[in-house]
Amino acid sequence: MDNKKMDILVVDDDQDFASNLADRLIAEGANVKTANSAAEAMQTLQDYPFDVVLLDLGLPDVSGMELIGRILCIDATLAIIIVTGRNDLETAVSVIKKGAYDFIVKPIHFEELWIKIVNATQSRQARQTIATFEKEMSVSYGFDQFIYKSQAMHDTVEHLRQLAESDATVLVTGESGVGKELAARALHYNGPRRLKPFVTVSCAAVPETLIENELFGHERGAFTDAFERQMGRFEFANTGTIFLDEIGDLSPMIQTKLLRVLQERSFTRIGGLKEIKVDVRVIAATNKDLQAEVAANIFRADLFYRLSVLPITIPPLRDRPEDILLLAQHFLEFYSQKTGKPFHDFSKEARDMLASYSWPGNVRELQNAIERAVVFGIPPSIAARDITLGPLRQAVHEHAASAGALAPLRAVEASHIAEVLTQCGWNISQAAHMLGIGRDTLYRKIRQYGIVQKKT
Ligand SMILES: Nc1ncnc2c1ncn2[C@@H]1O[C@H](COP(=O)(O)OP(=O)(O)OP(=O)(O)O)[C@@H](O)[C@H]1O
Ligand SMILES: [Mg+2]
Repeated sequence: MDNKKMDILVVDDDQDFASNLADRLIAEGANVKTANSAAEAMQTLQDYPFDVVLLDLGLPDVSGMELIGRILCIDATLAIIIVTGRNDLETAVSVIKKGAYDFIVKPIHFEELWIKIVNATQSRQARQTIATFEKEMSVSYGFDQFIYKSQAMHDTVEHLRQLAESDATVLVTGESGVGKELAARALHYNGPRRLKPFVTVSCAAVPETLIENELFGHERGAFTDAFERQMGRFEFANTGTIFLDEIGDLSPMIQTKLLRVLQERSFTRIGGLKEIKVDVRVIAATNKDLQAEVAANIFRADLFYRLSVLPITIPPLRDRPEDILLLAQHFLEFYSQKTGKPFHDFSKEARDMLASYSWPGNVRELQNAIERAVVFGIPPSIAARDITLGPLRQAVHEHAASAGALAPLRAVEASHIAEVLTQCGWNISQAAHMLGIGRDTLYRKIRQYGIVQKKT
C-alpha cells in the first residue's frame, strides 16, 4: 500500500478535531484536506480528487447521512468512513445502506481508523477497476447493440442517433419487448451526458406513495418510517439522465408533480418545502397508446405534450419479419456460448416456425424462446420440437389482454415477481419493498416458483 498517494478529506464541524486528525494522517504519509461543513466538503470534492472521506454525521448545514449520497454522486468509487459520536447499531446500518464503506465511533483509536482507511483504499481500487469496466461496458450500450436488417429498424436507429445528440425529452413508445429500454440506454450512452449517471425508474403498477418517494425522496419525519432525509431518483440522476419506464402507469397525482419537474426542473421532497433544482435529461417509455389515454382523461394532456417533444416509436417485430432470423441467430450464438452447448443453426422447420410466428412479445419473446430452445435442444442444430412459442410470461400477458381466458393466480404472481425482480436488478430488499412483502416471503416465493435471474 502506497500511503503517500492516499488523498483523504476530513469533514467535521469540530475544527480542532478535524485538524488534529489531519495531523495524524499527514504523519502517516497521507495528503489531507479538511472541511467544516457539508457545503465546504462538496466544494473541496469538486476541486480535488480523493480516495477516502472521513465524514462526521452531525454537520451544521446538511446531515452527514444525506451527504453520503451526494458524495457518491460525484464519485461512486469514493470510500466514505463515517466518524461519529453516535454509537448505535441503527445508525451504523443506515450509513452502510446509504453506501458508506465503514463506520467508527468517537473517541477514535487512531490505529483502528488507520486499518479501516487502508482497507477502504484497497476496496476503492477494486471498485475503480469495476467502474472502468462499466465505462467500457457503456460502449456495449451503443447502437451496435441493435441487431436488424429491416429498413424500418434502420430508420429507427438513424432517428435514435439524431435524438441522442440532443438534450431534449424523448418519449419512446412501442409494444412490450421491442427494445425501448435498449433505445433509452443507447440515447444516454451516446449523448452528451454519457459519462454521467443513467438512472432508471419503473413506474409500473407501483403504489403511488412508493413511486413518489422513489422519484422525489422525502424529508425526515415526512411519514412514520422517515427517520432520515432521503434523496429520490431525480436527485441521483442530477447532471445525467433519468429513464422513466412505463410512464403510462403513473397516477394523476404523480403526473402533476412530474409535469412541474419537466417545466421548472425543480421539485420538493415529500414533506418538504425547499425547492430542489436538478439538471436532468428525461427519457420516458411506454407500451401504452398515450394519446388514447389522454383522450380518455387517464393521462394529462399537458404532460403528454411535454414528454413527447421528441417522440420515437420502435416498430413491432411482426412489421419487420426480415429481422426475426437474424435476431434468432444472434441469440442462438449468445446462449450457445453462455451454456457451452455448441449450436450453429436452426433446422429448416425451426426456421419456418420462427419466421411465421407473430411474436406478440416481440424481441424479448424471441430471445426467451431461443434461450429455452438451447436448453432443450441437442447441438449442432435447433429443431422445431425444441421451440415452444408463447412462454409463461407471454401467456400471462396474452391472457390478461383477452378478457375471456384468465391466467391462474400462481402464474400471474410468479410472472409479476419475476418482472419486479428484473426491474430492481435483483435487489431483494427493493423488490420486496415494491411488492409490499417481506424479504423472507420473497425468497420463499422465488424458490417456490423457481424464478431465476437472467444473465443478459
Ligand atoms: N434490435 C435488437 N437487437 C438485439 N436485441 C434486442 C433488440 N431489441 C430488443 N433486444 C433485446 O430484447 C430484450 C427486450 O428489450 P427491452 O427490454 O429494451 O424492451 P422493452 O421495449 O423495454 O420491453 P418492455 O415493454 O417489456 O419493458 C432485451 O434483452 C434487449 O436487449
Ligand atoms: Mg422495458
